[in-house]
Amino acid sequence: MPGPSHFDDHAEAYERGRPPYPDGLWARLGELGLLRSGTRVVELGAGAGLATGPVLRAGASVTAVEPGRALAARLRRRCPEATVHEGTAESTPLPEAAFDLAVAATAVHWFDLEVVLPKLHRAVAPGGHFAVWRNAFGDPSAAVTPFRERVAGIVARRDGEARRGGAGELDTDEWVNRLGGGGYFAATHVEEFRWSVELRTDQVRDLFTTFSDWSAAEAEEAARAAHDLGGRVLEHYVTPLVVLERQPSRP
Ligand SMILES: C[S@@+](CC[C@H](N)C(=O)[O-])C[C@H]1O[C@@H](n2cnc3c(N)ncnc32)[C@H](O)[C@@H]1O
Repeated sequence: MPGPSHFDDHAEAYERGRPPYPDGLWARLGELGLLRSGTRVVELGAGAGLATGPVLRAGASVTAVEPGRALAARLRRRCPEATVHEGTAESTPLPEAAFDLAVAATAVHWFDLEVVLPKLHRAVAPGGHFAVWRNAFGDPSAAVTPFRERVAGIVARRDGEARRGGAGELDTDEWVNRLGGGGYFAATHVEEFRWSVELRTDQVRDLFTTFSDWSAAEAEEAARAAHDLGGRVLEHYVTPLVVLERQPSRP
């Protein structure tokens, strides 16, 4: 069973290979008044800083939590303005009422929410928010490309259990329920951003290497598929965003 240390083991490919979050998402966080100059942000599972960079560029201050040693080192190098704590979301102490916004980018599915939600409720100031989003690598509503057919072929050869169907990844209602669990936060904005990106063969190799449920041989096979298809493939992705407001007190 792959675990979260997969990302740290492949920190270099991670930093190189993961495409950035869509511009529309950053614009929306700004329009909603959640992310602007002076916003105090705590980011959980920050990785190598894919989300941290744009948050800092919006003028916010960032306290970042990342358990992977190699990823935390890259994050410090890439985002020297951020305060970086090496540790898990569950175990890293956070000051009380010190943040306007908590964020988790493609990370919340690794957390024990029974621990993290009450902890964030204490750390986020009254009136503050928790914004959660993730890049889902594959848009079920987009036309199936020849590359996606090859990817589906690789996945179909796995044993049933190891198959990644994206189950839960795009089940936004389920995430709204889970994140609202315990009454600490309540969803105020839910949106899906659909976007496309052209990837070269080497970028396909890096990106698929970072997927925690893909083996090195499978990632290589995906890269070979991209190579066979001309060395560049157009990928269609979805980024669901859930914004939750801190509730004044638990019901
Ligand atoms: C898919 S990566 C996303 C990283 C980064 N947020 C990004 O957008 O690129 C998931 C991250 O969650 C981190 N992670 C896993 N379990 C965690 C936990 N219990 N607490 C905090 N972070 C965790 C991993 O180390 C990894 O950096």
